[in-house]
Amino acid sequence: MSDYQPASRVTRIKESASVTAAARVRELKAEGRSIIDLTVGEPDFDTPDHVKLAAIAAINAGETKYTAVTGTPELRSAILRHAERRTGIAYGSGEITIAGGAKQVIFTAFMASLNGGDEVIVPAPYWVSYPDMVLANDGTPVIVACGDEVGFKLTPEALARAITPATKWLILNTPSNPTGAVYSRTELEALAAVLREHPRVYVLTDEIYDEIYFGEGRVTHLVSAAPDLRDRILMVNGVSKAYAMTGWRLGYALGPAAVVASVNKLQSQISSCPSSVSQAAAAAALDGDQRFVAECVDAYRTRRDAAAVGLNAVEGLSCLSPEGAFYAYVNCAGVIGKTTPSGSTIETDVDFTAYLLDAASVAVIPGSAYGLGPYFRVSFATSLEIINAGVEAIDKAVRALN
Ligand SMILES: Cc1ncc(COP(=O)(O)O)c(C=O)c1O
Repeated sequence: MSDYQPASRVTRIKESASVTAAARVRELKAEGRSIIDLTVGEPDFDTPDHVKLAAIAAINAGETKYTAVTGTPELRSAILRHAERRTGIAYGSGEITIAGGAKQVIFTAFMASLNGGDEVIVPAPYWVSYPDMVLANDGTPVIVACGDEVGFKLTPEALARAITPATKWLILNTPSNPTGAVYSRTELEALAAVLREHPRVYVLTDEIYDEIYFGEGRVTHLVSAAPDLRDRILMVNGVSKAYAMTGWRLGYALGPAAVVASVNKLQSQISSCPSSVSQAAAAAALDGDQRFVAECVDAYRTRRDAAAVGLNAVEGLSCLSPEGAFYAYVNCAGVIGKTTPSGSTIETDVDFTAYLLDAASVAVIPGSAYGLGPYFRVSFATSLEIINAGVEAIDKAVRALN
């Protein structure tokens, strides 16, 4: 018997709920069950050919060695150009950090900045990893519920109430996983007005879905709505979602030189640098032809419409039409308290999603994973056929409830 005891930072966190859900779907499929999988958190498209070719060219050119901690010059200038195109703000090369995915950037940013007792405001529903990343790095997540009645968005009043002398960071994720909510310029300006009253508070803006937007023009970034706050905003992004490059593991952040320097110092001891081949691929993605992104957004828009219209037609369920990303966050308050054909009562969204998996073979993720119930998350990063089959199966399962 091993007497191994993990560190308290491990016992204080959970495994990622989306990773667990994906593993469960794989298990059921391996048992021979045919599952309609609406849990997927990554594009179902293949990485574009010009990106793959750039990676192959890098390998053939011998770009297979360590790079600088802060990346190759090509990647750094591609990131700077891309960010300027999107935000209108020119960042300098001392303001970039790169890592093996946006996930690693966020983790390292907390590791570089949090001390015991520091608070991080996390609007809920949130991306599953934020609270655990804060906890793993000795911080305290302060969860602020933002339900569908406020469009799943943090209001200035709620922000003002949540800030304390211990607040170090606010996290803003727009477009959001799991809701697809997108903050407008006016909403960001209103949050910025509160932040101006609290000069100690930094903002981590997670913009990993900023290219996947169904509205007119572009998503507004906090730093564009409030350029005077630039020295307090760490803007996290990556190539995973926009360019269907989740497996390449390349993320980055732009922000205040002092914050970035401390992240880079840690990064130098954590991984030295992300894969040199992925860096070449990411530079090609950011600098290259952007038609791929537009084509994906068109496909996601059609699927979004199918999912939102279909789910809103199911009695007892309702969802706001997502404005970005590829998720819908469905309110299932109307089925709570109902009884399944086998006689059990649905008390929570966890019960409901377990029922959907058992009775309808539809896999979705319960809202409790994202800190706000009773809801569940549906991903539409899958084919229209699967989305329609999922909606139909959910409708049938709900009709069977008493
Ligand atoms: C909101 C959000 N931030 C960050 C990430 C991580 O992205 P990456 O693949 O770059 O680590 C994800 C991935 O699901 C996400 O949904």
